[in-house]
Amino acid sequence: MRHDHLITSKQLSRGDIETVLDYAAELDADPSTVADRHAGTLLGLLFFEPSTRTKMSFETAMKRLGGDVVDMGSIESSSVKKGETLADTVRVIEGYTDALVLRHPKQGAATMASEFVDVPLVNAGDGAGHHPTQTMLDLYTIRENAGLDDLTIGIMGDLKYGRTVHSLAYALTNFDTRQHFISPESLQLPREVVYDLHQRQDGTGIREHDSLEEVLPSLDVLYVTRIQRERFPDENEYQKVAGEYQIDADTLEAASDELTVMHPLPRVDEIAPEIDETDYAAYFQQAHNGVPVRMALLDLLLSDDKRIGGDDDE
Ligand code: NCD
Repeated sequence: MRHDHLITSKQLSRGDIETVLDYAAELDADPSTVADRHAGTLLGLLFFEPSTRTKMSFETAMKRLGGDVVDMGSIESSSVKKGETLADTVRVIEGYTDALVLRHPKQGAATMASEFVDVPLVNAGDGAGHHPTQTMLDLYTIRENAGLDDLTIGIMGDLKYGRTVHSLAYALTNFDTRQHFISPESLQLPREVVYDLHQRQDGTGIREHDSLEEVLPSLDVLYVTRIQRERFPDENEYQKVAGEYQIDADTLEAASDELTVMHPLPRVDEIAPEIDETDYAAYFQQAHNGVPVRMALLDLLLSDDKRIGGDDDE
């Protein structure tokens, strides 16, 4: 049975991922072929957490497909403020729209919300859980710069709370990759994610480190993340790790000339601005890739003839 909702990258097979990336590449080269494809279609945006790139690129993508968006706006100005439940909110807005995009601070919120609606629901980030559409644009960017097979990637920073990391790590197990996870001990990947990754990929492909130094020369891609301050239960704990794992031109002296540096953005101080103008930097290109990738995903989710995604196994 096909699945209408996109909740985690665990749903996506290698074939699904390749379908989306190939289609995104076609749309990137010539978006005019789909300019009217979804005329009259409305996408509901429900963002219960701040967002710039994700929300605006979904909006751009829907408009470039000929459709439009209906935006719940901020929590402050919506009925959420009056105590409305998430289940009620999504049931109401599904009646106005053809698909929903949900971002929420609570892990599991997208899975729960999807149980109440029939229109496709896309998880645009659920707390420290998953962010599968970010993963698709990350994979697109990796494929453009380094290729997805025989890939050695370092994923660095907040691996505990970073939802983009969780989604990317699962998706990469579909490819021949070596994943090096670099973080302070307190921000390591959740143990259940490590367990799952070992189940999905031969354990030799997964390694954890507390320093970038030992792996940097071997990397094709370095994926840097922000410490997720808003998810720390205690500000003091944040202060203990803030400012660790920054990279600048000196750090990258030990890297291969071919290294690609990525970041889902926003960055705080993880990547020095001096890297921006170097050939290493792919993070702005990565953000731009959000539009063709989300166009491809939305078209696939909204069209009856082309489908992606198996059942969500969460
Ligand atoms: C990320 C997120 O929201 O998880 N941002 C994004 O969607 N590009 C990363 C972050 O906030 O650090």
